[in-house]
Amino acid sequence: MKHYLIKTYGCQMNVHESEKLAGMLKSLGYNETNNAEQADIIVFNTCCIRDSAEQKVLGNIGAVKKLKKQNPNLIIAVCGCMAQENGRKELFQEKYKHVNIVFGTHNLHNFKEYILNFEKSKKNIYDIWEKEVEINENVEMYRTSNNNAWVNIMYGCNNFCTYCIVPYVRGRERSRTIEDITAEVKTLVNEGYKTITLLGQNVNSYGNDFSDETNFAKLLRTLCSLKGDFKIKFMTSHPKDLTDEVINVIATEPKMSKVIHLPVQSGSNRILKLMNRNYTVEHYLELIKKIKQQVPNYFISTDIIVGFPTETEEDFMATYNLVKEVNYGGVFGFIYSKRTGTIAEKMDGQVSDEIKHDRVNRLLKLSKQIIKEQNLALVGTVNEALVESKTENEYLATLDNGKNVILQTSENIKIPSFVNVRVNSIDRNKLICSLVK
Ligand code: SAH
Ligand code: SF4
Ligand code: F3S
Repeated sequence: MKHYLIKTYGCQMNVHESEKLAGMLKSLGYNETNNAEQADIIVFNTCCIRDSAEQKVLGNIGAVKKLKKQNPNLIIAVCGCMAQENGRKELFQEKYKHVNIVFGTHNLHNFKEYILNFEKSKKNIYDIWEKEVEINENVEMYRTSNNNAWVNIMYGCNNFCTYCIVPYVRGRERSRTIEDITAEVKTLVNEGYKTITLLGQNVNSYGNDFSDETNFAKLLRTLCSLKGDFKIKFMTSHPKDLTDEVINVIATEPKMSKVIHLPVQSGSNRILKLMNRNYTVEHYLELIKKIKQQVPNYFISTDIIVGFPTETEEDFMATYNLVKEVNYGGVFGFIYSKRTGTIAEKMDGQVSDEIKHDRVNRLLKLSKQIIKEQNLALVGTVNEALVESKTENEYLATLDNGKNVILQTSENIKIPSFVNVRVNSIDRNKLICSLVK
């Protein structure tokens, strides 16, 4: 029996692509293992969004070299965003010769072929495609995320935020057709998946590459009209393209999750302009106002970059105050990391590491405080929860916003299923709940 181990770095896009890699490995007769020493093939599905992400991957790739001594037949493969990055192919050719197969984001569907070719020739394979190709709809998948299923609705990004490497390693935007997406979601719902998470770098520009009036709101409406007991989530939404129509679908469709991840990146208009985000703080706050007015039980989270070139204490405080004002349910705070080939790489006014760390810590402290207050405010409220598993005397469930719930009841509950729960108390980050009929 042959075994595979896939190590995944980066965002949900990569998590889902690892499910495709796993599907291909399964079809070649490989079985999953968590033990690197037992593996016949180890795949690193990489990320390059920040330097820290790359250093981590490179360290781990270096560390598996010794396993080759024990098992000379071990195959090591590297793919994903870092493999696609300029100059990385040469790095692997020159410094990481123990890596046997290197391929990029545009040719993931060829993975099987690469394995078969390597097994035959024993010659390292380096195949990075410069440009995106048409979407391949015939990729096997081995899903690993429990009751949630990931569904790509589009690939690539056209936005070129000045700090970001994604457009360079993922190519231009390409949307899947509503028909292909609907067929996939229908199958998943029939298989019993309870949440469907739609993936795209900017889901709000879904369909812009089609000549008809297809857009994200229309896709959501179509998916909500499918029969079954499930919820639809999505990531990520760009504030410049979030329409009133999309807010309206989220507000009115019972199948829509009320979680909106709306990355603001900065609370300073000057910095937003330098970032090429194409919206102002005022526009962003207008969107937040609409969401708060229209969407029942909304949950808003965000991404923020601190220490973008030239960011002053005043700019940072504008971000800090915006976080307070919006009262986010979750803040993902990142330290700006210079990426080769991006526009911001050449900008003057780099901020020192010390200041960046201090700013991100202040932001995360504030966010923690807000979350604590929001959790306390949940005590006494009734919410819908997805029951996911059972221990000896309690059920484990999750709220729409991802918060973990301990459900104490003597009733027999189907797993998975949606139920209503009342929050009675809080134990650290877990909400202790009872069943509401
Ligand atoms: N497409 C998504 C985000 C993908 S990257 C969107 O536009 O919202 C996830 C997050 O990483 C971004 O929102 C940003 O906050 C952060 N990020 C991207 N590039 C970065 C960089 N060079 N340094 C630090 N953080 C970065
Ligand atoms: Fe990067 Fe901006 Fe595209 Fe998001 S929208 S992936 S931050 S370039
Ligand atoms: Fe990383 Fe690529 Fe995602 S750079 S964040 S894995 S799109």
